[in-house]
Amino acid sequence: MHAIFLVVRIVDENSSAIDTVRDVISGLEDLVKTVGFREPRIGLSCTVGIGDRVWNKLVGSRKPAELHPFREIKGAKHTAVSTPGDLLFHIRADREDLGFEFERLLLQSLGDAVVVEDEVTGFRYFDSRDLLGFVDGTANPIGPDLADSAIVGSEDPDFAGGSYLVVQKYLHDLDAWQKLRTSEQEEIIGRTKSDNIELDDAAAPDQKSHKTLATIEDDDGEHDIVRDNMPFGRPGRGEFGTYFIGYGRALWVIEKMLERMFIGEPEGKHDRILDFSTPKTGSTYFVLTQPMLADLGD
Ligand code: HEM
Repeated sequence: MHAIFLVVRIVDENSSAIDTVRDVISGLEDLVKTVGFREPRIGLSCTVGIGDRVWNKLVGSRKPAELHPFREIKGAKHTAVSTPGDLLFHIRADREDLGFEFERLLLQSLGDAVVVEDEVTGFRYFDSRDLLGFVDGTANPIGPDLADSAIVGSEDPDFAGGSYLVVQKYLHDLDAWQKLRTSEQEEIIGRTKSDNIELDDAAAPDQKSHKTLATIEDDDGEHDIVRDNMPFGRPGRGEFGTYFIGYGRALWVIEKMLERMFIGEPEGKHDRILDFSTPKTGSTYFVLTQPMLADLGD
């Protein structure tokens, strides 16, 4: 499995650029078919998230209840930066050439209506491990819980079926990480490294693990999100990264996770994954359902 994360900015939100973009994204499914039909078994897909800044011009309707730009979160030691992005394309395929071809045609049709802010190609690494060496994605909801965690429901009827989307591009200090003992790494993540067993929260009473900080619980129970993180990198340039991508039914849940990671819980006790991982980007979007997206073209 490969994924391309393409973040673009619309050049001038008052000009014909908006019309061009609206045309292209309303026909996204046709473009997926055009490329995907040539290799049906490769499972090409693309979702597009639309950012707050261009929402009114591009979509025209009122905004999804919680949509706003990514808010920087400044902890004592680490900052979740907010960076520009009007559209995020999440392109997935089992083979890199299909994703490449799709992205090429997509950018060709967008032309000079957009500028590319960021472009990352990620890959599945062994048994779904991140470059820190841990299996990533295990606690993702499955079955009926998946839609319940990622898809807006009757709480915002105009946007039911859609999803909030947050992305961050992290770069790792792999040398420093590899100097830790495996047991220290496991305490930071909250799972064992080789067989991926969850550690008891009590194992890290002082500074909570990533797993614990990213678990949001209240009187309504646990609030999950759906993650599809991908490793990326260029060893020759010392670049080793994780592209974080989270889909949520509620934006506050993803923001709460980020707050607990960067500010810490209790305050000051941040997620130590951040001592080895620096976010270089951060942006927020809303993903419309396919029929809503197609309707934009009318
Ligand atoms: C450097 C970036 C990150 C890396 C390498 C990373 C890696 C991991 C790993 C290895 C796990 C344990 C296995 C699993 O359940 O998937 C995990 C769990 C999790 N992560 Fe991350 N993560 C990163 C950033 C984030 C961010 C930014 C968020 C949220 C805003 C997040 C949310 C979660 C959640 C919700 C869980 C599951 C917790 C549970 O219920 O057990 N992660 N992550």
